[in-house]
Amino acid sequence: MPDGVVVTVKAKGSIVIEGPIDLRDQDGNPIQPPPGKKPGSIKLCGCGLSLSKPFCDGSHNPTPRAP
Ligand code: FES
Repeated sequence: MPDGVVVTVKAKGSIVIEGPIDLRDQDGNPIQPPPGKKPGSIKLCGCGLSLSKPFCDGSHNPTPRAP
């Protein structure tokens, strides 16, 4: 794993950011990741379908996951 932040653009549209980042909205207010997410890793929506933007909620995947 390289030092610093790693950004991975996934084929289905999500953007995974691993490492220490400061995510803010257009007014400079901090955006907290959804609860229960892996610390130090966030997944942003790049497809535009998420209902919890800016985070990916899996809506890019047309096949529902098995429980
Ligand atoms: S990339 Fe996953 S919902 Fe948009």
